[in-house]
Amino acid sequence: MTIQTDTPFNLKRRDFANDFVWGCSTSAYQIEGAIAEGGRVESIWDKFAAQPGNIRDGSSGAQACDHYRRWPEDLDIGKELGLNAYRFSISWPRIFSGVGTSQNEAGLDFYSRMVDGMLERGLDPWVTLYHWDLPQYLQEQGGWANRATVDAFVAFTDAVSRRLGDRVKNWITHNEPWCTAMHGNLDGVHAPGLKDFGTALQVCHHVLLSHGLSVPVIRANVPDAKVGIALSLHHLRPATESQDDIDAMFRHDGLRNRWFLDPLYGRGYPADVLQLCGDAAPVIHPADMDAIAVPLDFLGVNYYFPEVVKNDPDNLPLRSRVIAFPDCERTAFGWEVSPEGMTALLQRIQRDYHPGIIYITENGSTYDDVVNEDGAIDDVQRKNYLIRHLHAMRDAIGHGVNVKGYFAWSLLDNFEWAEGYLRRFGLTYVNFQTQKRTVKLSGRWYRDFLNHR
Ligand code: FCB
Repeated sequence: MTIQTDTPFNLKRRDFANDFVWGCSTSAYQIEGAIAEGGRVESIWDKFAAQPGNIRDGSSGAQACDHYRRWPEDLDIGKELGLNAYRFSISWPRIFSGVGTSQNEAGLDFYSRMVDGMLERGLDPWVTLYHWDLPQYLQEQGGWANRATVDAFVAFTDAVSRRLGDRVKNWITHNEPWCTAMHGNLDGVHAPGLKDFGTALQVCHHVLLSHGLSVPVIRANVPDAKVGIALSLHHLRPATESQDDIDAMFRHDGLRNRWFLDPLYGRGYPADVLQLCGDAAPVIHPADMDAIAVPLDFLGVNYYFPEVVKNDPDNLPLRSRVIAFPDCERTAFGWEVSPEGMTALLQRIQRDYHPGIIYITENGSTYDDVVNEDGAIDDVQRKNYLIRHLHAMRDAIGHGVNVKGYFAWSLLDNFEWAEGYLRRFGLTYVNFQTQKRTVKLSGRWYRDFLNHR
């Protein structure tokens, strides 16, 4: 079921604090293209996309939005929308071409120029260090399952934060460790395409450890740094009110949400989940959990959809299953639309973890865009998704949750991982044949909202 109501414009920028951060998010592999330029080496996504069957439309990020060349035009769009911040990620294979090699100045120069371009346009740069494009040479040595990758990440963090830290103050170590670990190594739908639970949990642990060990490095290199991590978190509901389903939801929550939040906030991995993991549990060195629990300046929350969970004794190890709840409003991806889920999730995070400051580091939707005869894209559903989630965020703030900023996913349509170019999430339409950009109705709404005084 798709509800197509038009949402009234009764939300004002002044409903939010004057210093509220308003941005858009992107990531390197999804927009840059230029995979062989400036000394960049292969990433796990180049390799994964080259294997037939992995990407739905057989595409890759080789061209993407050609942002590597067109970034000035794209930052102009950000400025035109009235953003005061822009979240982007650094392509690790542009910075180091091997283990122990010297840093690639051409790669660092590219990001340095782009950061200058942001500042010239009034966009505060927010760097994500890892948004899934691991260098392939590291995967060949075991990738994130190999503890040595943690050291390589710390060296990468050091190089980037030294170079950009005079201008970049907001740092996100990792984007969505759950996806890195589980999509990449358990269900195999993302690079590197492995399917092993033990590997996924070890990857997860090393990703979190690399986060913990990088935070002090960033702080040492960057005066006044604000450092956090962006997690994909989900509001959960039980399929029925039965105790079995409620218990199943708790177990699912254990791996989906608590597995990340608990260690980051000093509680270690949840004991109930560790027990269910059995032999698949990760190898943990004595000082690891303390390192992971390094205090953060903020928590980044990526919120897209809630999940409904059912008891399923056959589905090991969690004995639970996510079901498609009937009659829900959904995006074209099938993701349930639930602004209330966002409010509830934010309240829950505040109540259970007291993260201090929260930023919504991603939120957005995909629908099948239609280009009108006059070239306009009137994406009413995406616009409504945006408005309703801003309302939900305002509700959470009204309930005392300290949300200080919002980043829409995404500035541009882009390479949507395993879906290729079949899923458009942009506030700006990209014609991937001509590379022409057209701000959609949703983007025009965001612009009017941000420029309304
Ligand atoms: C998030 C990812 C982002 C994009 C959106 C739709 O999980 O962080 O790169 O794919 O989903």
